[in-house]
Amino acid sequence: MTSEFAVEMRDVVKRFITPEGNEMAAVDHVTMKIRNGEFFSMLGSSGCGKTTSLRMIAGFEWPTEGEVYIEGKAMGHTPPFQRKVNTVFQSYALFQHLTIYQNVAFGLEMENAKEDEIKKRVGRALDMVQLTGMDRRKPKQLSGGQQQRVALARALVKTPDVLLLDEPLGALDLKLRKEMQLELKALQQQLGITFIYVTHDQEEALTMSDRIAVMSKGKVQQMGTPVEVYERPANKFVADFIGESNFLEGKIKSLTRKEASVFIPGLNAEVTGMPISEGLAKGEEVVVSIRPEKVRLVEKGALKMNMFRGKVTNTVYIGADTHIYTEVHGVKLKVLEQNRISRLDPKSFYTVGQDVSLLLMPENTLVLKKD
Ligand SMILES: Nc1ncnc2c1ncn2[C@@H]1O[C@H](COP(=O)(O)OP(=O)(O)O)[C@@H](O)[C@H]1O
Ligand SMILES: [Mg+2]
Repeated sequence: MTSEFAVEMRDVVKRFITPEGNEMAAVDHVTMKIRNGEFFSMLGSSGCGKTTSLRMIAGFEWPTEGEVYIEGKAMGHTPPFQRKVNTVFQSYALFQHLTIYQNVAFGLEMENAKEDEIKKRVGRALDMVQLTGMDRRKPKQLSGGQQQRVALARALVKTPDVLLLDEPLGALDLKLRKEMQLELKALQQQLGITFIYVTHDQEEALTMSDRIAVMSKGKVQQMGTPVEVYERPANKFVADFIGESNFLEGKIKSLTRKEASVFIPGLNAEVTGMPISEGLAKGEEVVVSIRPEKVRLVEKGALKMNMFRGKVTNTVYIGADTHIYTEVHGVKLKVLEQNRISRLDPKSFYTVGQDVSLLLMPENTLVLKKD
């Protein structure tokens, strides 16, 4: 391959005119470099510009500014069929009157491929998505998950270097979606094709991706591995969007090169020794972020550094975990504990009104800029 990157978006802007006649940037100076063989996801809530970005890579839309590169070549106004990418949409867009075989063969027939070549490739594509033997059925005779696999086979049969997938599992129920996530990931690894995957589901992105671009309002908020975006969110938006976080507002009291101490008015106390990211200054208003599963609950004992007395205000048992809602001087903190031991005795759980101590271990907290 000629380029290290399968696909690049360089400083891409896409403006639309709204029905009211205003201009809006659906994609606002986005730069992404997607490596060969990578499972790359664009993650963000509805309207953040994911589909528009994907459509520009596919060639269904052209950037207002900036450029899309595929294998190092500027795409300009190259039409979709001349790009080495293929798209799988959420609505499977299968031809209802054609058989599964005919649906998958369609693209090859349009290219005037030879009959036995088509047969071989369709067979292989159906094998890949585990639909061998279903080739004579019509789409209506398949389940939702199977129909989605046909859509996938139809894209794979053309052996694209890059597969673009726009919320392909959106129409499936949760259990099937989770199964398909693992299957898709395994298939991608096995084929070594670059996948660019669009989803609004953070768990899905974490499950499948090598890297994730977290998007909001047309901009990339952070790009990184699942571990990076979860454990080291770049800002409050990402910390809030991916997983859950407790946020404590405060002000930097003292600062070394690596650590900060933050005074938190709500707790009327200082949290000390927290790792910091770049660009923070003494006296700056910040938010201290800590994940519910990283707060330690202690029933009794003397107060230590970064430990605060609080009360349980609610508990929610959800099988694998219990969510414990607490309040410390009126500041609400959510704690998540795993139920690692099988037990029924109500006394073994935290109860509403119970006094507890909460330990905010500095290495489990992040000091983030206030947006
Ligand atoms: N053809 C279009 N004309 C006008 N506005 C559009 C068009 N396509 C998308 N938009 C707007 O651009 C924004 C981003 O849309 P989209 O890329 O579909 O978001 P996502 O896929 O992340 O939900 C939305 O506000 C949407 O209404
Ligand atoms: Mg979309």
